[in-house]
Amino acid sequence: MSGGCSRGPGAGDAWLRLARLALVLLGWVSSNSLTSLATSSTSSASFLASAVSAQPPLRSQCPPLCECSEAARTVKCVNSDLTEVPADLPPYVRNLFLTGNQLAVLPAGAFARGPLLAELAALNLSGSHLQEVRAGAFENLPSLRQLDLSHNPLHKLSPFAFSGSNASVSAPSPLVELILSHVLPPVDKEEKWSIEGMVAAALRAGQALRGLRRLELTSSHFLFLPQDILVQLPGLRHLDLRNNSLVSLTSVNFRNLTHLESLHLEDNALKVLHNGTLAELQGLPQVRVFLDNNPWVCDCHMADMVTWLKETEVVQSKARLTCAFPEKMRNRVLLELNSSDLECDPILPPSLQTSYVFLGIVLALIGAIFLLVLYLNRKGIKKWMHNIRDACRDHMEGYHYRYEINADPRLTNLSSNSDV
Ligand SMILES: *[C@@H]1O[C@H](CO)[C@@H](O)[C@H](O)[C@H]1NC(C)=O
Ligand SMILES: *[C@@H]1O[C@H](CO)[C@@H](O)[C@H](O)[C@H]1NC(C)=O
Ligand SMILES: *[C@@H]1O[C@H](CO)[C@@H](O)[C@H](O)[C@H]1NC(C)=O
Ligand SMILES: *[C@@H]1O[C@H](CO)[C@@H](O)[C@H](O)[C@H]1NC(C)=O
Ligand SMILES: *[C@@H]1O[C@H](CO)[C@@H](O)[C@H](O)[C@H]1NC(C)=O
Ligand SMILES: *[C@@H]1O[C@H](CO)[C@@H](O)[C@H](O)[C@H]1NC(C)=O
Repeated sequence: MSGGCSRGPGAGDAWLRLARLALVLLGWVSSNSLTSLATSSTSSASFLASAVSAQPPLRSQCPPLCECSEAARTVKCVNSDLTEVPADLPPYVRNLFLTGNQLAVLPAGAFARGPLLAELAALNLSGSHLQEVRAGAFENLPSLRQLDLSHNPLHKLSPFAFSGSNASVSAPSPLVELILSHVLPPVDKEEKWSIEGMVAAALRAGQALRGLRRLELTSSHFLFLPQDILVQLPGLRHLDLRNNSLVSLTSVNFRNLTHLESLHLEDNALKVLHNGTLAELQGLPQVRVFLDNNPWVCDCHMADMVTWLKETEVVQSKARLTCAFPEKMRNRVLLELNSSDLECDPILPPSLQTSYVFLGIVLALIGAIFLLVLYLNRKGIKKWMHNIRDACRDHMEGYHYRYEINADPRLTNLSSNSDV
């Protein structure tokens, strides 16, 4: 019992101590949470203050015919028949949609007429009837990364559209992605104008597009790629040339595009790729090339490309490539061709050659029959010749008579005298 009694007060002590500890702990926690609460409230107060101070100039700015969302940092002025870029765009805008308008001309500094749009990163001008983009149209947009100019009948694209209006100062453009698809204007046959040259000039001016990584040039009826169209775009990762009318790639130099990852050439008019182009593509470390739906011509000039195709890993779904010409090779798979299949025909294809032999035999037979008929009728023919000769003689005599009358000097004198 005494052991139990002595244990009693000992146990009570322990309880007391525990309780005190708990209280201390509680106090520490609560004081801590209080201070943290205080700090958070001060920070939220300062945040509120800053928000309040920044609010009034932002909220007032949404141009007419536009929808502004500050939370999404987006301004949409779409399908509104705007004829110029609104001057009072809110400075918070990151994504600006100006699609489906009637802009016609984009002058220099078109986006620099109001407060600086320091954060504008994506600008979409698709389908806004733009015919002319002047030098320095995208000046003073220091964060512009993506520009969509597609579906505009671009008749005049200034060489300095992306580089700035002061050609002597070539500040690099911040652009990373440029979309120039469906930009072919209705062709004016009188004019010596080429969309290929115009676009190439704008892409290389002042090396401004050094940072460009993605370039879309689809559906604009490009017939060729100017030699220097890509030389000033060393950072290019993705090049899309789908649905143009490219016939050949021999003039283009891909060698410097060492970062190129994808090259889309589907739906063009390519007939064959030659050794030079094949070597350049093979030399790019990480490229994938897309070549479907081109009218490949499977004659002797195709041999190098077929050999290359069988070995390369560069071409995507290469088993889908088929011949379009000549007729006898149509729809043959390029990868399954032998060098014996790839011939350049002699002057006449074999089918035509046999038909020419047949025609020759028929002509010879007709000739022989004709000669035979002549021989059998030789008497009749002689008589006929005599008749003709007689007729001719009569006729000639008539002529002779008339000539003598005309040549008679007395008669000619008479006629000239009567004239006087
Ligand atoms: C630009 O707007 C057009 C029309 O709304 C749209 O089809 C296109 O995808 C947009 N471009 C980009 C890069 O988002
Ligand atoms: C272009 O920039 C150069 C160099 O800064 C300057 O000397 C020249 O005056 C500028 N030209 C124009 C037309 O602004
Ligand atoms: C291909 O380009 C032509 C104009 O060159 C255009 O009319 C057609 O719609 C384009 N096709 C596709 C699938 O984009
Ligand atoms: C392209 O690469 C060659 C060497 O491969 C170099 O001499 C030339 O200057 C490069 N061109 C450009 C525009 O970078
Ligand atoms: C293309 O290159 C291959 C291999 O390097 C060579 O055998 C062939 O003769 C070349 N073709 C032409 C047309 O130069
Ligand atoms: C290619 O040629 C080889 C013999 O040279 C032949 O055995 C093979 O069947 C041919 N292949 C085709 C698709 O003609």
